[in-house]
Amino acid sequence: MSAAEPAELRVEGLRFETGGRTVLHGVDLTARPGETIGLAGPNGSGKTTLLRCVYGTLRPTAGRILLDGADAASLGVKARARRVAVVPQDATGTLGLTVREVVAMGRSPHKRFWEQDGPEDARRVDGALRTVGAEEFAGRRFEELSGGERQRALLARALVQDPGLLALDEPTNHLDIRYQLEMLGLVRGLPATGLLVLHDLNLAASFCDRLYLLAEGRVVASGPPWEVLTVEMLDAVYGVRTRIGVHPTTGAPSIVYLP
Ligand SMILES: Nc1ncnc2c1ncn2[C@@H]1O[C@H](COP(=O)(O)OP(=O)(O)O)[C@@H](O)[C@H]1O
Ligand SMILES: [Mg+2]
Repeated sequence: MSAAEPAELRVEGLRFETGGRTVLHGVDLTARPGETIGLAGPNGSGKTTLLRCVYGTLRPTAGRILLDGADAASLGVKARARRVAVVPQDATGTLGLTVREVVAMGRSPHKRFWEQDGPEDARRVDGALRTVGAEEFAGRRFEELSGGERQRALLARALVQDPGLLALDEPTNHLDIRYQLEMLGLVRGLPATGLLVLHDLNLAASFCDRLYLLAEGRVVASGPPWEVLTVEMLDAVYGVRTRIGVHPTTGAPSIVYLP
């Protein structure tokens, strides 16, 4: 795997309004190069919107996204795609393509528009398919895959993009527990900064350096897992009762949900 330099991300005063509603009310978030940052919060709290602003499919109403200190709004689509890759919840632009073709799309930001895939591209695509365990369905149509197979294919596409920042929106959603652990371990081990939306707070606690907890479009807590995942905070944000212990091997917070 060729190494990209991990990116620094700074989100400053990010506001997003749509249809007369304010979805994000001035969000600040930073990810230092190489950090794995978890984003959690109830349904509708603005996590996907924040991610879309970061990877550029939504334009903020106010505030700035800085990549390595440069305003991301001033980067062209291709330049941004050389630095930021995304594993979205729902992929578009994949109709009729095979898994291999979808994964190969990840190479395009690094090529000129007339450039054909070369042996190096093919080698990278093969390697990524192997890494995510997708070789046996590489020839199938992407839209015929199960949710978990799609998610792995989209991760492979992001891997061959050599991003400095990898943004993932609920990447473990459709995965069985083995692939959940594999995917998060893989993302954590990449030479890239990670920004992950995760619903499973125990996985977030184990795999992320720092967490941001969103509620109603605002950051209500941020910091290392032990500072963010408290009984009081989980009650306030999710309205659930919990007991929080120590994970026996990782030392991370380990949450048990109470009836
Ligand atoms: N394009 C849009 N138009 C109108 N409302 C939107 C749009 N996108 C998101 N929203 C609303 O913004 C809120 C946050 O959505 P989202 O970012 O998808 O939340 P999350 O990913 O945390 O579940 C929701 O109430 C959602 O209905
Ligand atoms: Mg979402």
